Amino acid sequence: MNKMLKIAHRGAKAYEPENTLQAFQKALDLNSDGIELDVHLSADDHIIVMHDETIDRTTNGKGFVNTFSLGDLKSFLIDEKYQIPTLNEVFDLVDKKCLINIELKGLGTPKKVVTLIEHYISEKNWNYNHFIVSSFDWNMLQETSNLNQKIPIGVLTEEDPDTALAFAETIKAKAIHPDFHLLTSENVSKIQQKGFLVLPWTVNTEEDIQKVKSYKVDGIISDCPDKI
Ligand code: G3P
Ligand code: CA
Repeated sequence: MNKMLKIAHRGAKAYEPENTLQAFQKALDLNSDGIELDVHLSADDHIIVMHDETIDRTTNGKGFVNTFSLGDLKSFLIDEKYQIPTLNEVFDLVDKKCLINIELKGLGTPKKVVTLIEHYISEKNWNYNHFIVSSFDWNMLQETSNLNQKIPIGVLTEEDPDTALAFAETIKAKAIHPDFHLLTSENVSKIQQKGFLVLPWTVNTEEDIQKVKSYKVDGIISDCPDKI
């Protein structure tokens, strides 16, 4: 059996502001096997790493990410000191040292993300196993798969894992990413027997981590990957 992956949610969010280069560096410092992050497009079509569709909660600005240019977005600060990163900047920081789980959130992200992944593979010696693209929006996953079938897909779900399993089979996904509350040892085993990894989120307490580990999942997405 492969080792269980420790994946740092929005970077090591428990220790540094979420979705910043500092949070991703912290994840690397903690020897995470992967990082998870969220993406939207800016008004001028750059891939922006940000969880919410607005910058209100995490920066000193206000407004929708997709109404600002990259230059404008760089003028806002997270925790009064950090800039909002682009996906390219995160790739360059990580530099193949761990898996990158890109969660598609904003409209238009599938095509831009596929193009960027293909660029890093063809020009910078990365390979498909460095990436997994996930989303709650399964139309975006279908679009990603239509653009490039080699890109590993993670089917995010906060509902019945069986429905996600059926969709995963149709698009030949690599993994199912369920809300960990949905898991049992039986459904984990069923998903794995069908050939998919099980990567639950967001598991943070010692008790929950132990419970999910007992189900023999393939990895855990956590704000504190060092606890896994
Ligand atoms: O990828 C798992 C998890 O990140 C999904 O929820 O809201 O943190 O993006 P959220
Ligand atoms: Ca996410």
